Amino acid sequence: MKNGIIILAAGQGTRMRSSKPKVLHTVGGKPMLGHLVEQAKKLSNSQPIIIFGHKGEQLKATFAHEKIDWVEQTEQLGTGHAVLQTLPHLQDDTTYLILVGDAPLIREQTLNDLSLASKTSGIAVLTVSIQDPFGYGRIIRNEQGHVDRIVEEKDANEAEKQVCEINSGVFAIRGDVLKKLLPQIGNNNAQKEYYLTDIVSLANQNNHPVNAHVISDFSEVLGCNNKIQLAQLERIFQMRQAEQLMTDGVQLCDPSRLDIRGQLQAGVDCFIDINCVFEGEVVLGKNVIIEPNCIIKNSTIGANTIIKANTIIEDSIIGDNADIGPFARLRPNTQLANNTKIGNFVETKNAQISQGAKVNHLSYVGDAIIGEAVNVGAGTITCNYDGANKHKTIIEKNAFIGSNTALVAPVTIGANATIAAGSTITKAVNQDTLALTRTKQTVISGWQRPKKQPK
Ligand code: UD1
Ligand code: MG
Repeated sequence: MKNGIIILAAGQGTRMRSSKPKVLHTVGGKPMLGHLVEQAKKLSNSQPIIIFGHKGEQLKATFAHEKIDWVEQTEQLGTGHAVLQTLPHLQDDTTYLILVGDAPLIREQTLNDLSLASKTSGIAVLTVSIQDPFGYGRIIRNEQGHVDRIVEEKDANEAEKQVCEINSGVFAIRGDVLKKLLPQIGNNNAQKEYYLTDIVSLANQNNHPVNAHVISDFSEVLGCNNKIQLAQLERIFQMRQAEQLMTDGVQLCDPSRLDIRGQLQAGVDCFIDINCVFEGEVVLGKNVIIEPNCIIKNSTIGANTIIKANTIIEDSIIGDNADIGPFARLRPNTQLANNTKIGNFVETKNAQISQGAKVNHLSYVGDAIIGEAVNVGAGTITCNYDGANKHKTIIEKNAFIGSNTALVAPVTIGANATIAAGSTITKAVNQDTLALTRTKQTVISGWQRPKKQPK
């Protein structure tokens, strides 16, 4: 039996107080709806059906790269009415997992289990028991232990309100069952809404006993109505990722002070200190140490490398045993070979730095190729931009660049050459030579500095 996915996302989300549709707010750097689309791809070969109501253009633009069946619900007349809009898209022999667009933390395993639970009769609901069920639809069981009906808070009597097993809002229902029962849902209730939950009693009347799949982790079905709840979802999501990393052998100084907005893959015995942010795809080799307050985006870091505090790395590839920071900024297309060293207040961009080379203090290295074992002295700047175009600086192996050198590109420094401190280099320097462009030091003896005149 095939799975299909239906995602309810037509609610306006007024309480988010935002110009963005609620389901586009991010958890772990990804829109809530994106988390569900990702789950959908794992569970189903067919494209997910998303029911939208507000700001359809924004939604479609965000998922322009995905294959999605967009279904509009022009008026929000209830969850039953929402799913009714998908009728023309439904296949009889497909089991539809009906998900809620603002509850992004549902696990793949749970959805698989729910789908399985629906196999016998064509319908199952995902439930959980909680201490304070206020506001949720209550699960009323029959003598056989199946779900007899779901009663909404506003329609519940005192006895029903005592029930702590609640409707998560997530269902698995076969296409033929949906087609038969959805049109029968009415709106004769306290909210004058078409409740999807009424499909449960209709199913029972039509000889489809309703199974419940019960989960124990309420966070999987936690929804989000405002930015306080959004922050709660974010923390739960981040803690799950942190726990996975620790299970995989990474040491985290404090799992509650780590943020992964993308995919972090880390080798064993990595150590990540507090307040680090990982974005996009980041790969760490084994034994990498990351000190506090680092931001690393779309980069690969080799084994045994240390990234010292307050370093920012983006779109870069770093070898093994490198030593970077504190306060380094590696901008896109920085490539550091093994055993390189980038020190404090060094900025690199589009730079290839070979094995054993060092840029230790206060430098800008852009559009540069730096050879093996080169030493770039403090305050050295590659002047790569002439106001219109970018030019390359090449420093061949073993060269020594004295402190406070300006290398005006395009320029090449030959192997083993030495540049005297404070030079501005505008022409190629041959290998094994010394280049210096500063004036000779002049000495005037007995020099008197000006003195302040008494008033
Ligand atoms: C719903 C369930 C309730 C359950 C709870 C779990 C019904 C009648 N009640 O209640 O049993 O415990 O979820 O959170 O289903 N939506 C639409 N179109 C509409 C109305 C809603 O797309 O016309 C979407 C919303 O955007 C939201 C989801 O459906 O994503 C749930 O709607 P919501 O209004 O939050 O339902 P609840 O009252 O919370
Ligand atoms: Mg709700």
